[in-house]
Amino acid sequence: MDDNSLPKFDVLPQHVGFIMDGNGRWAQQRGLPRYKGHIEGAKTFRVIGEYAADIGIKCMTFYAFSTENWRRPKEEVNAIMNLFREYLKEADERKAENEEKGIHMTFLGDRSNLPMDMKMLMNKIERVSGKQHKVIVNIAINYGSREEITHSAREIAKKVKSGVLSPDDITEETVTNHLYTAGQPDLDLIIRPSGEHRLSNFMLWQAAYAEFWSSNVLWPDFSKEDLNEALREFEKRNRRFGGV
Ligand code: IPE
Ligand code: IPE
Ligand code: MG
Repeated sequence: MDDNSLPKFDVLPQHVGFIMDGNGRWAQQRGLPRYKGHIEGAKTFRVIGEYAADIGIKCMTFYAFSTENWRRPKEEVNAIMNLFREYLKEADERKAENEEKGIHMTFLGDRSNLPMDMKMLMNKIERVSGKQHKVIVNIAINYGSREEITHSAREIAKKVKSGVLSPDDITEETVTNHLYTAGQPDLDLIIRPSGEHRLSNFMLWQAAYAEFWSSNVLWPDFSKEDLNEALREFEKRNRRFGGV
């Protein structure tokens, strides 16, 4: 797509979070098993991620699997993990191409109980090349905001214990800098399709002043036009951050 055909926005959010919800319902509506919805949702993720980068979003997070999603039937969890593994292999093959474009991919969440082959691919993909990054694409996998904040607290406590940090020097910034998103801007916009109006443990800290946009469209049907609509709405929001 050439640049002229892309929409222009007066203000763009610095960091957009996508809660990719509604895959299961999409499949159920078609009489298909839920995993088919996850296959379609993974396709949408590829299309929307690329499009968001094309229109100038510099940082984006896709919520793919929560710390609570392990409660689902084993077959569904396995199907999601296999899709994720497929995607990792693809991203690994495309790493050089992505680096050329300035796209840096990272993974947010607790990796400790993910399969070893996936962990190795994740580490490889996110290894920095030294090239300048124009776009950050985060995938949140086995991610839970409470786990992330707990992890941050634990890391800070270790520093206090070893004497490199004094309790009185702990600020909001200290906590921010120990989250998986350290160094990234706070969320400006959260997009949740599928008609739900909740965060489901997504970036509770980073979302303090995020704008929320929801729609009834199910994630597999989420289109470039839907993203445009969310961004047009964002342009009009009056953000006050507690001021007047
Ligand atoms: C989102 O779609 C994908 C994950 C949470 C892994 P869902 O699977 O939650 O779809 P619904 O909400 O059941 O329709
Ligand atoms: C949120 O969706 C998690 C992801 C999209 C990965 P859920 O479907 O798990 O959220 P709830 O259960 O409806 O709150
Ligand atoms: Mg859901």
